[in-house]
Amino acid sequence: MRTIAVINQKGGCGKTTISINLAAALATKGKQTLLVDMDPQGHCAVGLAVPEEQIEQSTYDVLIGAGRGEPMRLREILWQISDRFELAPSNIDLAAFEQQMGGVDNRENCLRKVLDEIQDEYDYVVIDCPPSVGLLTFNALRAATDVMVPVEMGYFSLHGLSRQLETLTAFCEQCKQNINVTVLASMYDIRTKMGREILAELKKHFSERMFKTVVNFNTKLKEAASLGQPICEYDPSCKGFKDFLSLADELIGSDTQIHRANLVNSLQAKLDKISASADELLADTPAPKPQKQQQPIVSCDEKLADFYGVRQLDGHVVFSTIYPRAQQVQIAGDFNEWKPENAALDRVDEKGKWQLTMPLNKGLYRYRLVVDGQWQQDPYNDWIEMNPFGEFNSVLNVE
Ligand SMILES: Nc1ncnc2c1ncn2[C@@H]1O[C@H](COP(=O)(O)OP(=O)(O)OP(=O)(O)O)[C@@H](O)[C@H]1O
Ligand SMILES: [Mg+2]
Repeated sequence: MRTIAVINQKGGCGKTTISINLAAALATKGKQTLLVDMDPQGHCAVGLAVPEEQIEQSTYDVLIGAGRGEPMRLREILWQISDRFELAPSNIDLAAFEQQMGGVDNRENCLRKVLDEIQDEYDYVVIDCPPSVGLLTFNALRAATDVMVPVEMGYFSLHGLSRQLETLTAFCEQCKQNINVTVLASMYDIRTKMGREILAELKKHFSERMFKTVVNFNTKLKEAASLGQPICEYDPSCKGFKDFLSLADELIGSDTQIHRANLVNSLQAKLDKISASADELLADTPAPKPQKQQQPIVSCDEKLADFYGVRQLDGHVVFSTIYPRAQQVQIAGDFNEWKPENAALDRVDEKGKWQLTMPLNKGLYRYRLVVDGQWQQDPYNDWIEMNPFGEFNSVLNVE
């Protein structure tokens, strides 16, 4: 059984679209395929017309059960999508997994335990991951033989890619695991000059770590998802379907090289190379030219209204985040000796946006958010670094 985790901490780069349609294409090719949704957003179910209100049990129940050493319940949660294609759906319950497993030994191995038990029943497992690096993504990585990193063909996605690969390096160092990591160009629009240039650069630098198949931008893929169908059902004659058949062929064609026990790729060595290439690539790629049109003058308040994460503004640092149901959001970092007590964010609107402005001197800082007592990385800051507890600190450079 080959297990492919589709991972990129950048949101909206096509992970779910790829997971659904790759799984469907593998099934079309006669492979017994399981799609596992590890994202609490539950988009796989939405994209496959599984009614959310009827999902009584989800990946959450199976993972929690595995963590507690209970008998395996995977079969109880599966939905048959088509011949040879099943879905283990998720829903918002899964958001509580990290918090509930806090302090539990081996909590990063729950999915691996579950999948080990069914490894004779499937040829392929595809895992759709959330756009963040936390315990859920760790579980996917621990279970994976392959990591597929979709990269949307836009300037800023290269930045995300470099960080993503650094994160994977940190992970592999920590658990000494060999995984095949391959980059997949996604949402490629051949008509745009930037798309063509970025694809050419990626190919130049990543060559053997990239799928030859490119997933083109195709509005039929969007339409198919909104109607709850994989592309092979919605429009088997479209270009989008051909891309996924080709991707499935490429994977199947490389099956003989990939066996968990004797994976030859030492990820560590490869990633060092890839990570350096990505940085180089970023340095070489010119930033998009600013638009000529006159920018309207906006006040600081207006600038802040629309962003989450951390930003430097007028000599201060502003932390913004959104937690609609939280009672308290604080921040702890090396700038306040990791004591969150005196650094509470204010709730600034009815949507659940929280904000704190702090004066900080120049320098590199690490911090974590503390949401109702739970420590977590800033979900809107891509720059993260593993801490000695195997969790992630968010990083901030004040210039
Ligand atoms: N190749 C494509 N052509 C056209 N639209 C696409 C393509 N891939 C994805 N999209 C659209 O882009 C949006 C984001 O895609 P998708 O949900 O797959 O990304 P994601 O990485 O899973 O997002 P998230 O990080 O939130 O989980 C969706 O509206 C989807 O329909
Ligand atoms: Mg998704």
